[in-house]
Amino acid sequence: MKQFLFCVLIMLIGKTCALIPRTYETRFISITSNGTNLFDFSQIRFLGRERMANGTFELKEDLDNESFSVVGETFIDSVGDGEYKQLPFTAPKQSVCTALKAYWSYFEPSIKYGVKTDFPAHTHPCPLPKGIYYIKDVVLKNDNWPVIMPRGYLKAVANLFKNDEYGGSLEIVSQISDLS
Ligand SMILES: *[C@@H]1O[C@H](CO)[C@@H](O)[C@H](O)[C@H]1NC(C)=O
Ligand SMILES: *[C@@H]1O[C@H](CO)[C@@H](O)[C@H](O)[C@H]1NC(C)=O
Ligand SMILES: *[C@@H]1O[C@H](CO)[C@@H](O)[C@H](O)[C@H]1NC(C)=O
Repeated sequence: MKQFLFCVLIMLIGKTCALIPRTYETRFISITSNGTNLFDFSQIRFLGRERMANGTFELKEDLDNESFSVVGETFIDSVGDGEYKQLPFTAPKQSVCTALKAYWSYFEPSIKYGVKTDFPAHTHPCPLPKGIYYIKDVVLKNDNWPVIMPRGYLKAVANLFKNDEYGGSLEIVSQISDLS
């Protein structure tokens, strides 16, 4: 855990950690959302042993920087019994455009624009434009992730607020295991 925190710190300071090879691999387990008025991620399937994500997601409104804010939290279930413990790796409440800009790099290597999606996240669009977008054959890559990660089921939750009222959550669960 100490090393994990250390590397999170390094990541905040620079990109040094991207140069060090990872000793773990990651794969998608699930993506769920429950903010059905604002977004819908229920049309994504996971294919094959690699659990490639394929399907569409929808933003039902323009998510503008003034009305919408997000809080991020992470949890780990080390043994797979469904008991998640919170990790210190969190994102304080911030406007959606700021959050996209700050955290997109974790997903950028996995979801290249024009190949894996038509959602232009790499341009940090603001507002996040309403629409239905595809994601195609997306395998979770950990290139920009911390060098040291706990093993197990990692749950990342983004809680969305509209005018400071809770509007729903997006939950991504991935499995982190030793390189096989
Ligand atoms: C993934 O979805 C696309 C359509 O978005 C489809 O063309 C493709 O065949 C799907 N891939 C697999 C492996 O089913
Ligand atoms: C979004 O809002 C934050 C402050 O709430 C500001 O720092 C940031 O520059 C804004 N981003 C855009 C693209 O307007
Ligand atoms: C939506 O999902 C989040 C994250 O899993 C959970 O904390 C929240 O209670 C859920 N809200 C509703 C209304 O189901």
